[in-house]
Amino acid sequence: MCGIVGYSGPKSVEEVLIRGLKRLEYRGYDSSGIALMQNQEIVLFKAEGKLENVEKLVKASSPESRLNSVRSGIGHTRWATHGKPSVQNAHPHQTGHVVIVHNGIIENYLEIREQMIADGFTPKSETDSELFGFLVLKEMNRGLRLRPAVSESFRQVRGACSVVVMSEKEPGTLIGVRNGSPLAVAKIENNGGMIIASDAQPIVDYTKEVYFIESGDGVELSGGELTFFDWRTNREFQKTPTKIEWSSDQLDKQGFDHFMLKEIHEQPTAMVDTINSIRDKAGDLPFALIGQPGLKELQAADEIIIIACGSSYYAGLLGKYWIERYSKIPVQVELASEFRYRSPLIRPKTVVIGLSQSGETADTLAVIRDLKAFKATQPSNQSSLFNLITIGITNVRGSSISREADACLFTCAGPEIGVAATKSFCSQLTVLFMIAGFLARNSETRKLMVLSGQGVERENTGAIEQVFQEFLKVPHLMKRFLEPDSLWLRAIEGAADALLLSKGFFFIGRGYSYPIAMEGALKLKEIAYVHAEGYAAGELKHGPIAMLDKDMTVVVLAPQDSWREKTVSNLEEVKARGAKVLGIGLENDDRLKSLCDYWIPIPLPATSGDFHSLLYPFLLLPTIQLFSYRIALKKGTDVDKPRNLAKSVTVE
Ligand code: AGP
Repeated sequence: MCGIVGYSGPKSVEEVLIRGLKRLEYRGYDSSGIALMQNQEIVLFKAEGKLENVEKLVKASSPESRLNSVRSGIGHTRWATHGKPSVQNAHPHQTGHVVIVHNGIIENYLEIREQMIADGFTPKSETDSELFGFLVLKEMNRGLRLRPAVSESFRQVRGACSVVVMSEKEPGTLIGVRNGSPLAVAKIENNGGMIIASDAQPIVDYTKEVYFIESGDGVELSGGELTFFDWRTNREFQKTPTKIEWSSDQLDKQGFDHFMLKEIHEQPTAMVDTINSIRDKAGDLPFALIGQPGLKELQAADEIIIIACGSSYYAGLLGKYWIERYSKIPVQVELASEFRYRSPLIRPKTVVIGLSQSGETADTLAVIRDLKAFKATQPSNQSSLFNLITIGITNVRGSSISREADACLFTCAGPEIGVAATKSFCSQLTVLFMIAGFLARNSETRKLMVLSGQGVERENTGAIEQVFQEFLKVPHLMKRFLEPDSLWLRAIEGAADALLLSKGFFFIGRGYSYPIAMEGALKLKEIAYVHAEGYAAGELKHGPIAMLDKDMTVVVLAPQDSWREKTVSNLEEVKARGAKVLGIGLENDDRLKSLCDYWIPIPLPATSGDFHSLLYPFLLLPTIQLFSYRIALKKGTDVDKPRNLAKSVTVE
């Protein structure tokens, strides 16, 4: 979604802004712009399309002498909501002596627009954002200074958003306010100025001490100091910074052609870092989450509900398979956008997990807020009966979900720049697997009937220590896979090149492979713009099989687990309809190989005889990611910033 950067200080303002906006490109945008405060005059540079277009405008029009007089500015990348992508609709928006950048939505924009027109102003854009500048101008014309004018204006708008504002009347000052959409701010050491942005990524180039602004709060950047205030009451307060644990090197491609490719290769490290962050406190105890928040409630839960969107939803689904099998605690996985608008039934001892790599996804966050509000309305004499708790699992410290959930567990994937989730997804699986193992060892014995139908996995749930040892080997195995020019990699590239022109794809799998099939289809859609569906293999014949012909490809995920035979039968049905079959299975599965038109063997080293089928998803994952990557590469799409997509979906 939209990205905001603002800077006030001695550095080259346009350089800080452009560099910062580049750091935010991953969020997705279709136009951009910057406003520089040159002495007491606002100068705007805005363009459609890539940020380079703004950069060219700035370079073409800024003689050295002029740049020297600029000491503050704000910049923006816009992901269109109200009004098409165009120069007029691009931010910053200037109204009189006020200029603003905005992220989010102003819901009551129509009434403000009418007010603006009635007051004799003509809106220059179709956006809701521009109207905020008008409100600030009106308040300043009534005699307020910039900060109270911004607070007063912010009290007049409805909707989740954040805004950063400058005025020619107070050059050098920036005011940022937040209600929903995130904002982070920092003071750069050695009088290097102050920087504000939509997230920490533009800031870590200068400092690792970052303040995350809470909803309801604002910050004034002026005279080299940050002043925090509550925009509802104008009360000032002190704040403690958060130390960012990753470095700005991780924001570069480091020799890879794309961030996505780099991030696929970083998955083993992301897994190790995530496992270690949990094990740090737990020592060698298998799966122990000692010191992690929300543990007691997880152990005692009647039910776990995982709330998520997109890839995170698929990770949640796999978490359900793992957790239910091992802990016997019922798990529901729900799309946040559906859950929040129906009337879900919640048992007294329910743990709701908000699973979100960004920690900012509007729908997931809204569910956490709604549940907390609901809990607060329960009569106090009922509260012991009603033990609902929310736990966030996110990759971003300081994110809204991490702060607003009752407890939070962190994945340690580091910053993910590619819009398509890869290492963040892998780290989510890692934490969910740790939770499943932890609950298996520590939950009360449950009186639940476990159906165990034919062909269903019947692993020995007692051998949890052994599973843990196998789990610890996964990052190493994955690393070996990813070595350049491996047979596995060549098979992926060969299959992708041969199937490039397929009319459409079905990814099918059963059991633990089913959520990965859905993730595979999503990856292909997102980055290669190819139609793909992820299906439970058993569902294909209930409708979609009608679509199969020689121009369609079915990607069959069939590692040697107890679902394999069933999946192979489904493969035969596909073949009989003339579709092309790409099989992904274990290297030694000659029978599966012989049934497929194309074949990607997953090489398990001889020493991994005991490798547990629970863990196959970790090996299928890089396979489907690289398959999609290769197709996108061949099609020439913008792999890291696919069209129409935003990394962090902060509007519903
Ligand atoms: C995944 O590749 C997508 N970018 C998208 O589906 C994403 O997983 C979804 O928007 C949820 O984001 P979150 O994990 O940050 O909540």
